[in-house]
Amino acid sequence: KILILDFGSQYTQLIARRVREIGVYSEIRAFDITEAEIREYAPNGIILAGGPESVTELGSPRAPQCVFELGLPVLGICYGMQTMAEQLGGAVEGSHVREFGYAQIRLDEETALFKDIADHVDHETGKSLLDVWMSHGDKVARVPDAFTVTASTPSCPIAAMAWEEKRFFGVQFHPEVTHTLQGQRILEHFVIDICQAECNWTPAQIIEDQIERVRAQVGDRHVLLGLSGGVDSSVVAALLHKAIGDQLTCVFVDNGLLRKAEGDQVMETFARHMGVRVIRVDAEDQFLSRLEGESDPEAKRKIIGNTFIDVFDAEAAKIEGVDFLAQGTIYPDVIESAAAKTGKAHVIKSHHNVGGLPETMKLKLVEPLRELFKDEVRKLGVELGLPYDMVYRHPFPGPGLGVRILGEVKKEYADILREADAIFIEELHKADWYHKTSQAFAVFLPVRSVGVVGDARRYEWVIALRAVETIDFMTARWAHLPYELLETVSNRIINELSGVSRVTYDVSSKPPATIEWE
Ligand code: XMP
Repeated sequence: KILILDFGSQYTQLIARRVREIGVYSEIRAFDITEAEIREYAPNGIILAGGPESVTELGSPRAPQCVFELGLPVLGICYGMQTMAEQLGGAVEGSHVREFGYAQIRLDEETALFKDIADHVDHETGKSLLDVWMSHGDKVARVPDAFTVTASTPSCPIAAMAWEEKRFFGVQFHPEVTHTLQGQRILEHFVIDICQAECNWTPAQIIEDQIERVRAQVGDRHVLLGLSGGVDSSVVAALLHKAIGDQLTCVFVDNGLLRKAEGDQVMETFARHMGVRVIRVDAEDQFLSRLEGESDPEAKRKIIGNTFIDVFDAEAAKIEGVDFLAQGTIYPDVIESAAAKTGKAHVIKSHHNVGGLPETMKLKLVEPLRELFKDEVRKLGVELGLPYDMVYRHPFPGPGLGVRILGEVKKEYADILREADAIFIEELHKADWYHKTSQAFAVFLPVRSVGVVGDARRYEWVIALRAVETIDFMTARWAHLPYELLETVSNRIINELSGVSRVTYDVSSKPPATIEWE
C-alpha cells in the first residue's frame, strides 16, 4: 500500500484514486504525520502531493524528515518535489509567474520512473518527449547533490529529478491528471515496479475483506440501516446482507418527495429480489403537513431533515435488540470532515442525510465504505449484483423534490413534478444522453403561464429542465442537449400532463448558478 501526504492540493484525492485504479490501496494523511504513524501504516512507498503554498516562505509545510530515512521509495509531485529538493539540500526559487497548462518535457536521463515511456521523439537530440500538465509558480532551481535532472522544458529546466539508488523521484508536472497522457503509466512504474506494492485492491477482494471485518465487528448482533435508495446506502445494504444476512434490518422512509416509482423500486430490488429485510415507512403525510406554508429553502431543508430523524427514530425504537447503526459514509466524507477539523479544508460541504438517533439507543457505527471513493463504491455495487441503473444513477439530494418545487411544497406540485421528471429521464435514456450528463432533472415553478387549448386560454404551471455536466459538482456546465430531444421532452410534458403549459431549459452554468434551483 501507498501513503500519500497531503499538502492541501485539490489534486491529492485524484492521486489516491489513480493509485487505487492500479489496484493498490492508498490512503491520504496530513503532511504532519508522525514517524510512529507512518510505521504503523507500513507503506511500500510514499507520495508527497502538491499544495498551494510556497516552499520559499517561512512556516510553509514540510514532509517529516523521517520520510527520507525509512528506506522507502518517495515520489514528490509539484510542491512535493519542491519540498523534497529543499529538505535534501537543493534549492527552490519563487516566482510570480504561474506555468499552467500543457507542456512538453524532454527526458534527459534514464530513470526507472519514465522507463520505456514516450509520446514523441525530439528530432534534434533523439530524446523522448512527454506531453504533461503543469500547474506551478515556484520551481526547483538546484537539485540536491545526489540527484540528477531527468527531464526539462525550456521554461522549467528541472521538470523531474531522481536519486535512483535511494528510489527518490520528483516531478514538477501532474501525472495524476488525464491531460498528462502517460501519467497513469508513470504512477504504475512508481507503485508497482519501484515500490513493489501488491495489487490486491479489486472489488471482489474489497468485498471479501469487508465481509470479514463486518462479521468480526458485529458478531451475532443486529444492525440497523437507513436505506435511501441512493448508491451509498444501497451498496451498504447489499454488502451487509451478504455479510450478516438476517441480522440486518433496513428502514426505508418514503417522504413523498421521491422520484416516480422510487419506493417500489427499492422494495423490488432489496426486499423481493435479494431477500433483505426492509421496513418501508410511508411518511408522506407527515412530511407534507410539516412543510405546509413554508417557502424558505433552508427552512424546508431543516424540516425535511428533522422529520426524517423523527420518523427514522420512531421506527428504530420499535425494533428490538439493535446494537449497531450502519452508514454509507464514504472516503471523501472522511477526508472532508478530517480537513474541516484541522482547518485545512479550502472548501467544506456537508449534507447530512441521516441524522442522529435517540441517545438511549447508544448504537455503535458500522461504516464499511469509509475507505472507498465513489467510483469504487459503484464497482462494488455491480460486483454485489445490484442493478447497473441503480448503481450508476445520477445523485439525488437528500431533501429530494422538496428543493425542486420552488417555494411551498404541495402534493399536487410533487405529483406533477414526478411525472415531468420521469418523462425527461426516460427521453434522456432513449436518446443515449443520460450517462453523458452528470445530473438531470425537472424543476417545478409555481407560476401561472398562459397556454391555448382549443379556443380557450388556460393559465398553467411551468416546468424547467436542468441537465449539467460536471466532474466534482463544484463547477458545472449546462449540457448541450440536442434541440430535437428538448422538443420531444417538452411536447410530451405539455401534452401528457394537464396543469403544465410551458417548459423551459436552464442554460446557466455553475458558478454563479447552482445545480439545484433552491
Ligand atoms: P448545488 O445546487 O449546490 O448542488 O450546485 C451540488 C450538488 O449537491 C446536491 N445538493 C444536495 N444534496 N442535500 C443533499 O443531499 C441538499 O440539501 C442538497 N442541495 C444540493 C445537488 O443535487 C448537486 O448534486
